[in-house]
Amino acid sequence: MKKIVFLTGAGISAESGISTFRGGGGLWDNYPVEQVATPEGYRENPALVLEFYNKRRMQLLDVVPNDAHKIVAALENDFDVTVVTQNVDDLHERAGSSNIIHLHGELMKVCSSREPYNENYVETLSPDNLCVKLGDLAADGSQKRPFIVWFGEAVPRIEDAVWALRDIDIFVIIGTSLNVYPAAGLLNYVPSDVPVYLIDPNEVNVTRRNVTVIRKGASEGMRFLVEEYLSKVK
Ligand code: APR
Repeated sequence: MKKIVFLTGAGISAESGISTFRGGGGLWDNYPVEQVATPEGYRENPALVLEFYNKRRMQLLDVVPNDAHKIVAALENDFDVTVVTQNVDDLHERAGSSNIIHLHGELMKVCSSREPYNENYVETLSPDNLCVKLGDLAADGSQKRPFIVWFGEAVPRIEDAVWALRDIDIFVIIGTSLNVYPAAGLLNYVPSDVPVYLIDPNEVNVTRRNVTVIRKGASEGMRFLVEEYLSKVK
């Protein structure tokens, strides 16, 4: 089986109704990043940060995967697929993808504020118990915090993502402005003879040559990618 790695960003979930971060009306226009997505912001006002992620989690209950997530999942019938996502939503999982690397954490999980990356203290919230308050404690006795990689924090799963790029045949980027590193730098690990496709309705700056740009929304772009390219190579 040929091996495809997808790198996805907020744009793949936009058609499910989750806002992107940048660009008009993006999440970071309405919430100051430094308050809600940095360790300093969390130290300053943990209640505000917990509330911000409680709201994001509640929003997740109202949305469903769109065709782009579903097509990515269905490709597992014909390809060896890995999804490397910057998204913290669980729409790839719910669409049926089985091999997902969440670079920036997962909204439905919480962890220890003392040791955020210690797997022993990571816990998945259930839909009827989504909200985390001050005083809710992780198994190590520290305050529970969102299992989210904030700006300025290490990205532990980047090495898994680089590892997933070994021996790949096709790399597909969907719905990311490629503004945030190290995720954006993954493209540099893709060997130069591997075809790269980029699906985004807007212009995205890529330095690499030989990128086939599909200027469409995620669902339409994925249908086009399958019809025009993938159906011919499997
Ligand atoms: N289909 C595909 N792409 C779309 C769509 C759509 N329907 N609508 C918008 N987009 C594109 C935008 O053109 C943009 O290029 O999605 C991209 C979204 O970019 P960002 O908002 O910057 O999101 P992302 O690249 O995922 O952000 C990376 O930044 O704030 C952090 O941790 C956060 O994981 C996030 C990271």
